[in-house]
Amino acid sequence: MKITQLPALSGYENLQYCEDAKSGLRALISVHSTKHGPAAGGCRFWNYASLEEAINDVQRLSRGMTYKNRSANLPLGGGKAVIIGTKKTPEMMRAFGKFVDSLDGTYYTAEDVGISPSDMEIVSEETCYVAGLESGEFASGDPSPVTARGVYLCLKRAVEYKLGRSKLKGIRIAVQGLGHVGWHLSQMLYADGAHLFVTDLNKEIITKAVDQFDATAIDLDDIYDVEADVFSPCAMGACLNIDTVSRLKVTVIVGAANNQLSEFRIGDLLKTKGIFYAPDYVVNAGGIINVSMEIQKINNPQYLEERLLALPKTLDMIIALANTKNIGMHAAADQFVEAQLTK
Ligand SMILES: NC(=O)c1ccc[n+]([C@@H]2O[C@H](COP(=O)([O-])OP(=O)(O)OC[C@H]3O[C@@H](n4cnc5c(N)ncnc54)[C@H](O)[C@@H]3O)[C@@H](O)[C@H]2O)c1
Repeated sequence: MKITQLPALSGYENLQYCEDAKSGLRALISVHSTKHGPAAGGCRFWNYASLEEAINDVQRLSRGMTYKNRSANLPLGGGKAVIIGTKKTPEMMRAFGKFVDSLDGTYYTAEDVGISPSDMEIVSEETCYVAGLESGEFASGDPSPVTARGVYLCLKRAVEYKLGRSKLKGIRIAVQGLGHVGWHLSQMLYADGAHLFVTDLNKEIITKAVDQFDATAIDLDDIYDVEADVFSPCAMGACLNIDTVSRLKVTVIVGAANNQLSEFRIGDLLKTKGIFYAPDYVVNAGGIINVSMEIQKINNPQYLEERLLALPKTLDMIIALANTKNIGMHAAADQFVEAQLTK
């Protein structure tokens, strides 16, 4: 196994590349910040077109984790790992575990796109700096229901702020993506009496949502044109771009998807259009709160609930900052976190 130190972007603490000929592992770990605790962030398995592309992605994502962890006030810094490839093997995951272990606890790994809890179980054979496990005293398991609850609490707060409605009864919500988070979220919204418009790549799950939530099925691309109060992106990133934002008829956007804005200026466009945008990394922090409990060895439901209830309060502080400075919510969130980062 060969580990190479690479030049990290300015403001980043560490960037390492690992190649292991025996297992075929090619992986990068980026540590953006350990100022507030060990860097934590998932490991992504992706077939990057080049090492350059993977380097850009891992650094962008690790900085994003610093912002998310700080906005949720967790005793963690930000980091991320990527594995470049098309086929995962247990040997590869074991080699990745050794790579993580070589950083001596400055970075904790967990699941991200393309990585399952069973992959993390293999990683845990080689390092203790791993979370998102399914077994063990502090195992946090699937974070999705917790993420969904955090998004739900923030969505309620956003509707109250923007629409003056303290209850979701009769509120029309367009949900994009009925996967792990989107499904749990839809359950909660439906229980509160919201009317759901739903779309997903998976037709079966749409049928299930129509049956169970009395939802209206929408074709994939038509979700942006729905006459609704709230758009809830729970599928993929960059869903808010010049084209989609020009079509939206909603007044509130709150969803679980990471990196919803295709570019920073889309946040300005949303402000100009009078659409309230709840910054993704603020509202979807439930998952990392769940993971952080495993890292901190906390097994206390009250701790979890307090942290989740703090998410809409953080949203309130960002709203206040956005109003005072007359800036978009995306910019206010970054400024809010950057002020915390200097402390
Ligand atoms: N799982 C978590 O705890 C967590 C935490 C923070 C952020 N997120 C983010 O939330 C989003 C959803 O996560 P998840 O765990 O539910 O993922 P998932 O893979 O379980 O679900 C995503 C769903 O979106 C659907 N989908 C994909 N492309 C689509 C499209 N173009 N239009 C409509 N539907 C589409 C998929 O078919 C799938 O059902 C992701 O962006 C993820 O990064 C998840």
